[in-house]
Order: sequence, then C-alpha cells, then structure tokens
Amino acid sequence: MSDGATLDQPDFARLPDGDPAVYTAPLKRPDHIGEDWIEPQQRIYSSDEDAIWNDLYARQMDLLPGRAASAFLAGTQKLGLGRGGVPAFARLSEELGALTGWSVVPVPMLIPDHVFFWHLANRRFPAGNFIRTRETFDYIQEPDVFHDVFGHVPMLADPTYADYMQEYGRAGWKAMRYNRLKALGSLYWYTVEFGLILEGKDLRTYGAGILSGPAEAVFCLEAQSPNRIMLNVDRVMRTDYVIDDLQPTYFVIESFQDLYHQTVDRDFDRLYRSLAPGFTYANTAVIDIDDVLHRGSLEYFLRGGRGSGASPV
Ligand SMILES: [Fe+2]
Repeated sequence: MSDGATLDQPDFARLPDGDPAVYTAPLKRPDHIGEDWIEPQQRIYSSDEDAIWNDLYARQMDLLPGRAASAFLAGTQKLGLGRGGVPAFARLSEELGALTGWSVVPVPMLIPDHVFFWHLANRRFPAGNFIRTRETFDYIQEPDVFHDVFGHVPMLADPTYADYMQEYGRAGWKAMRYNRLKALGSLYWYTVEFGLILEGKDLRTYGAGILSGPAEAVFCLEAQSPNRIMLNVDRVMRTDYVIDDLQPTYFVIESFQDLYHQTVDRDFDRLYRSLAPGFTYANTAVIDIDDVLHRGSLEYFLRGGRGSGASPV
C-alpha cells in the first residue's frame, strides 16, 4: 500500500496489492504483455473481420430500437459505431474521453480480476482484441471485440453509468479483501451484463451480454419464461447465475441514478461480513422480499435450455 492510502481509501492509481497467484489463476499472461495486460497496439483487422463487425452491427441494430435503453442507442450514435469496420480504439478513446473521460484499451483475452478492477477504477475499459469468426457468429462464450465494444462502450458515454462503472472497479479492492469476489461478480452479471431498466412503463435493456447477441434481447423483455424483479443489491449479490445460457431471472433498475446510489451509498463492509461464501439463492428463485414485475413460467429452463435445443421464445 502506498503512502497516504488506507484500507478504506486505497490508492486506486496503483494495481491492488494481493497475491497475484490467487487473482491471476488460471489465466496465463502472454510473454509480450506487461502487468497491465494491455496489448502494445490494437490488432489490425482483415477486410473479412471488418465485414463480420458490419454484419453483427447491422443484425443488432435491426433488433435493438425499442428494446435497448435510450442511453445505449444514443451512445452508438455519439461514438459512430456504425461507420464501418471494427472501430479504432484510439479514435473511440478520444471521443469517449471528451464525453465522460473513459478510454478503451486492447487486451488479449479475459484478464485477472484485480487488473480489471484497476482499469475500471481509472476509467479504462479493457476490450478483447480479437473478433469472432463466421462459425461462432451467433454465440461465443469468451468476450470478443464486438461484445466488448458494441455491448459495453456505448453505455460509457452516459455520465451516470460511467460513474457507476468506475465505482464498480473501486469496489473490487474491498471485495478482494473480504474474499467475496463471487458476490461482486454477481452484481456485475445482473447489471452490466444482463440488466434491464424501466423507461416510463417500458422495459428496456442496458446489459452488454444481451445487447451484443441475437436472441436474448427478445427473450429478456418479451418471453414468459424468465422472472423480472426490481434490483435489490443485497439480494442480487447472494444470487447464483448461469454463464452459458439465457438467464432465468433479470433484475430491473428504475434509472442509472438508482443503480449508482444503490451501490455507492451501501455499507459493503457490513454486507460482506454477512455474506456466506457461496450463493444463498438459486438463479430461478423468487423470494418473499422481491418486488416482482413478472413471475416467470421458467418454461425454457424446464425444457432443458440451450443444451436441449429448446426455443427461447
Ligand atoms: Fe462483458
């Protein structure tokens, strides 16, 4: 810990202390990458790869008006993500920097949690450098440049959301200290990756995992199967999630201010001390304290989900 930093006010400019073996495993840092995990430069994409970006962009933009949060759609316009080809991170960083002070940095793959928190805490969004192939056009488990840039970066043009993401990164220090990364990961999952928001009476999505894929934007808003429950941070951080299929449950925020205050104003010390190491609630559960917008039939999951070839809607 550097001079002047305390447990509650760490020096966020420096990589968090801790045992790298704990937070890095099982990732192996490539030899040409430093401790920040940033690639020396963004990859140069072939014309075929630029065409994959263009086709993914066109597909999502057919689907998302009326389903994506207004802030997301505004972000795609402000940052000109449809200008053709994979966006250059340098230009994107300049434009995003002028809006909210964020930048986009290229990383080779998933990066260790402590490095991820450190980048977010300093308003740098690490984006996968590679792009999926035609064979993995519809579904890819590891985040590629389309997921990271198209899914995440437009939201960073919204000032309140941009602040939330920085606070999320800062929250990583405490979660590591209490060894409660799974709980903090669950919050990320149910907000940043799969969150829904009310706009007036209409539900929309702001989650990158939904916005960057072909099926879930319809499923999360229109299907009978999933639960839709108002966000309660304590409850969400005790809830398990699935990483390789559509979600059984979505959590809904009233506004980005609501999301920001539900997290920043919270006493995480108290919360972490009260959390069990594992999750308390299954990802299908509806519990007494829930403010339920839609109680799901769970039919998609009862039919066996993705593995069984069940149709989502
Ligand atoms: Fe993501």
